[in-house]
Parts: sequence; C-alpha cells; structure tokens
Amino acid sequence: MRNIYMVWLLLCLCGFTLGCQLEDISSFGPLKVTGYYGGSVVLPCNCKDLQSKPRNLTWLRTVRYFNEVPPLYKINEGDKEPEIQKDCEGRVARVDDGSPGNLALVIYNLRHEDAMTYRCQTERGMEYLELTVKDCNLASSGERLEISKVSGESVLLPCWCAEKKAKPQTLRWKDPNGRLIRSESQQSGRFAHRVEMFNDNTIWNVSLLLSDLTVDDEGEYTCEINGKDNKVVYSLTVTDCTLSGQDEVVEVEAQPGSSILLPCACTTLEAKPQNFRWTPPNNREIHWHYRGRAELFHQTAAPGNLSLLLSKLTPEDEGVYRCEAGEGKSKVFVLTVRGPSFLLSDNCRKNDDSWSQFTYCIFALFCICQFTFL
Ligand SMILES: *[C@@H]1O[C@H](CO)[C@@H](O)[C@H](O)[C@H]1NC(C)=O
Ligand SMILES: *[C@@H]1O[C@H](CO)[C@@H](O)[C@H](O)[C@H]1NC(C)=O
Ligand SMILES: *[C@@H]1O[C@H](CO)[C@@H](O)[C@H](O)[C@H]1NC(C)=O
Repeated sequence: MRNIYMVWLLLCLCGFTLGCQLEDISSFGPLKVTGYYGGSVVLPCNCKDLQSKPRNLTWLRTVRYFNEVPPLYKINEGDKEPEIQKDCEGRVARVDDGSPGNLALVIYNLRHEDAMTYRCQTERGMEYLELTVKDCNLASSGERLEISKVSGESVLLPCWCAEKKAKPQTLRWKDPNGRLIRSESQQSGRFAHRVEMFNDNTIWNVSLLLSDLTVDDEGEYTCEINGKDNKVVYSLTVTDCTLSGQDEVVEVEAQPGSSILLPCACTTLEAKPQNFRWTPPNNREIHWHYRGRAELFHQTAAPGNLSLLLSKLTPEDEGVYRCEAGEGKSKVFVLTVRGPSFLLSDNCRKNDDSWSQFTYCIFALFCICQFTFL
C-alpha cells in the first residue's frame, strides 16, 4: 500500500517536471472562436502551469481529418525557429507575453479560407478549436442621409464596419456620376488632392473626407461594402456664397491720405466664393497698382469676408470698384477722394519720394491755396 502511494507521488512530481499539461479550454467539443475578415484572431491554448515549457508544440489545422496534415506551426525542443506552413508565413505567430506556457497563436489578416478546425498539441495532450471568419457589416447600412455644407468647407462622409475588427473585402465609394472615388494617391480629375480616406489607419473605418467643396460637388455619394446590399447613401447640398447687398451701388467718400474699408461679404462668412475678385477703376490690378496700400481679409479673417481696405488714398484712386463673386454677382462702390487732409502734412514730411505722394502734396497745396483765396 505504502509503495503504491510512493509511486503515485513520484508520478505527480514527474508530472511537473515532465513539461506542459494542457489546460482544458472546452469540455464540450472544440472551442468556438470568431474572427473577422482582414482582422486578426487569437487562438488560445496554454499549459495549466504557465511557467512550464512544452518540449514540443504543434498547431495543426484542417477542414476534415487531422491525419497527414502538414503542421501550421511547429517547434520542437532544441529548434531555434518554428516551422510555419509556407502559405501562412508572415501571418502566423505565437503570442509573446513572456510566459513559456502560453501557446496561443495569432493569425493576422484573416481570410475566409482560415475558417477551419485547429488543434494545439504538445507531448502531453491536445486541444481543439473551431474558427469562424465573418465579414464586415456596414454600420447604418441601407440609410440615406442628407448633408448641407457651404462652398469651401469640408465634409466627412462616415462609413465603417459595425465590428471594429473587420475589414471590408471590397469597398466602393461612388461620386454623384456613379464614378469610383479612389484613395488620395490614385485619385485624379475633379477630386484630385481633395479626398482623404481613413482606411490606412484603421482597417474597419473607410470614411471619406472631401475638402474645398464647390457647388459642382452636389449630389449623391455612396459607400458600398462587400456588394450592393451593404451600402449607405449621402445626399450632399453645397450652398455657394451670396453677396450681401448684391447688385447694390454704394457711394463712398474719403480724404486724400486716409484709409477706407470697402465692405463686401458673403451672407455666410464661412462660404468661400468661386471666382472672387476685385476690379478697380481703369482695369488696374490690385496687387500691382495698390502694392502695400491694399489689404484683403478672406485668407486671414473669414473666407467669406471679401472686404478691401485701401490706405494712403490719392485722387487717382477715384472711380468704380467692383467686388465680384460667383457668376456675375457683384457689389459696386463709387469712390470719391476729396478735401484737405490732416494726414497729408504727415505724408509729405515722411520724405516719401514716390511720384503719387508728390502729386497729392501738390494737389493739397493747390486746395489750401484755393481755400485761402476764397
Ligand atoms: C519532440 O521533440 C524531440 C526533439 O526534437 C523529438 O525527438 C521528438 O520526436 C518530438 N516528439 C514529438 C511527439 O513530436
Ligand atoms: C472614422 O474616422 C473618422 C475620421 O477620422 C472619424 O471622424 C470617425 O469618428 C471614425 N469612426 C469611428 C466609429 O470611430
Ligand atoms: C471683414 O474684416 C474686416 C477686417 O478684419 C472687418 O473690419 C470687417 O468687419 C469684416 N467684415 C465682416 C462682414 O465681418
């Protein structure tokens, strides 16, 4: 009796030193594991004692019988590198969490063919797992949503898999003409440099960002995942700039040497107008003839603030100024520069020898003379 007890004790002790006793992961048939197409999945398997190290570890997989299947992953005592099935190289690895008894396997970039029965096997037992590979289900599939924007703004069109592990097997973004919108590097034509897709950062989020919108971008955009049945439609409206005080003619007066703000703005200040320009009198060019004297705010204040600030006015600046935005929409200013100016003496003293400075000093003198003789 005592001898039997000793033998039993020895066997127990040996059990610990003999290596890895697999933990039962499922007592009712194989353990069911779900993964998503394009994502990664962990197939759990471990020794009861996480510090024990198996002498041999083999992962096998098959759809039918385990006889004669080549190992998916195999490492024997003394091997430096595991042996991995050729067509799975780079997609299969051990979970490395520092415990030698954790034998779990990760499969990356899952394919539908990976849905099989798996066997984790050491010198002291085996465990079975059954892997199912599911597809991405589009969140808010079947919906049709309306979005309104003003020109110049950006719009984010959301599209993602409800399961944040899945990758769409096929993805199609279509523009209002039914043409495919490609990722930024491949996109040419109308949307070139204006599209951004997010599927580089996350496999499951394929939202689209369209920037610098114009009225021509109006229409329906569709995100289709894994075929036509899984789609979401966005109906986009883009409002262009409407000039406030459109078609008005405003008369303004200023003194020589002073500044004047010619106010011109879209009713929506966030709207960026198409074909925006200021036309000064005599077809002059703002940036050339008014160099250093003209200031615009649409790039600094708000895209829809088209006001023009003219400074150090001279009588030559008189005339019609037209603020144009969109198709034939404009606001007109008739500027008169007249009267003596207090700023004038200042300007003359500055020793600014440009010709225009000189002319309005003469002009001012002329005015003052006139006043004194009257
Ligand atoms: C375990 O590994 C050893 C050393 O490589 C080898 O001799 C033995 O056959 C392996 N046993 C099994 C069951 O694979
Ligand atoms: C998807 O990406 C877009 C852009 O980065 C982001 O705004 C959106 O919140 C993301 N979706 C989810 C569900 O996180
Ligand atoms: C446009 O910008 C100018 C300069 O900042 C400012 O004086 C003016 O009030 C702005 N116009 C509108 C409509 O906001």
